[in-house]
Amino acid sequence: MNNSSSSEVALRDGWTHDLDYRRCYQTEDDLQTILRLLALTPGCSLVDVGCGNGAFAIAAANNCPDCQVWAFDALDSAIAECQAKAAGLENLRAAKGWAHALPLATASVDRALFRSVLHHLAQPEAAYAELGRVLKPGGRLVLQAPCNNWGAALGRVLSEMMLLADNSHRRFYYRPAEIADGLQRAGFSCSEPECWPYEFPFIEDHEAAFLQQHGAEKELRLRPLQPGKWGIEGCWVRIIAGNAIQRDCRPRERPVVGMRLIRYQPEFQEPMLALHRSAIEGFVLGMTHEQDEADLVAVEDVYLRGHGEFLLGFIGERLVAMGGFKRLSGGLAELRRMRIARELQGQGYGTLLLRELERRAFQSGIRTLCLDTARRRPLTLEFYRKHGYQQAGRSFYGAVETVQFKKALEEQICLDAANQGAAANGVPAKRIGDSSGSGGPPSVG
Ligand SMILES: C[S@@+](CC[C@H](N)C(=O)[O-])C[C@H]1O[C@@H](n2cnc3c(N)ncnc32)[C@H](O)[C@@H]1O
Repeated sequence: MNNSSSSEVALRDGWTHDLDYRRCYQTEDDLQTILRLLALTPGCSLVDVGCGNGAFAIAAANNCPDCQVWAFDALDSAIAECQAKAAGLENLRAAKGWAHALPLATASVDRALFRSVLHHLAQPEAAYAELGRVLKPGGRLVLQAPCNNWGAALGRVLSEMMLLADNSHRRFYYRPAEIADGLQRAGFSCSEPECWPYEFPFIEDHEAAFLQQHGAEKELRLRPLQPGKWGIEGCWVRIIAGNAIQRDCRPRERPVVGMRLIRYQPEFQEPMLALHRSAIEGFVLGMTHEQDEADLVAVEDVYLRGHGEFLLGFIGERLVAMGGFKRLSGGLAELRRMRIARELQGQGYGTLLLRELERRAFQSGIRTLCLDTARRRPLTLEFYRKHGYQQAGRSFYGAVETVQFKKALEEQICLDAANQGAAANGVPAKRIGDSSGSGGPPSVG
């Protein structure tokens, strides 16, 4: 279901740069409580949905360096702030994303945080379903939101009062039982909702008058704080929910668009470098761009003339995938530079590219492929494991700790790939067909 209503698209950002918001609702105590409830363990993954300035996602990534943290928000301004604050944190990725359409694979994360976002959603069921989709069976959701623990009509009055200050969207103060019901219908088993009051000290005279007109002052505990400023008491609800459903982990039906694979051509060097740079954003490589990109500015010498391969994937005119292999010795080659555009990860494109590279490697006499990928990218590690790669050791790529993988190629793989129509022939570019199957995030190195 699509709930990106125009009111949500036009959300005004009243939080990212608001020091009062941070001081009141992102305290050290809030951060520590959420970290405790998330109970992150090394190797697990977390998605923070509606991450805002990223305070919680960043605290989680710092607190558990062996976890992979994804942070999504509907606002560019929030994501820009989160990315700036998270610079250098290798295990955090922030990108624009809506609660009802997260760019993550089904059953791919262990924990989800959904804090102070629910009251911005007109159709919370779409977000519950999406959270349930991306969480692994047994995965944990920590949901916290302002709610309506008063008389039923008061939620609407409060929303209307908020519109006086910020007319970009209505707020939806759901009843705690309503939230728990919605989560249960989406396949979660829920803790008893926990409610407690919070102070909202930003009411101005005309807003106070509005509340008084609607007889809401008593239940909301409206009180003067200083000349021109009033306070009310809001109510938080928190629910810890476990994903009780064993979901079908095959990607949902979505309109997978055909990707054309072609052999590298020098005219695409710039977009290829841009795709590479966006994939490694946030990594501290411990080397200069020139050092890191030495092979990418000499693809023909390093890959193609050495009986290796380097492929580029296009959707329409846009370069969305890249990757190649470099021959190390007769039957051994190294898979390198696998990159898929961020918003297309988890949709089968990584699988298409990998299969085609494996097919071409086998055809050219290669029997073993090896690769290095960043250790702090659990989803990437999972991607290679799922495709039959065995862990072979650990190493470093500059300052980035990596896991080494190896796979013995079998003829079967090549037949599979061929049967799927994955037979791109270099120039001229040929469509290699649509495919399901889950793709994977890019690796480093
Ligand atoms: C009150 S802030 C909360 C930020 C942070 N989660 C926290 O707890 O401090 C609400 C955030 O939710 C985001 N948001 C609202 N609706 C959203 C949606 N449908 N999908 C993703 N993010 C959304 C807003 O852009 C904003 O950054």
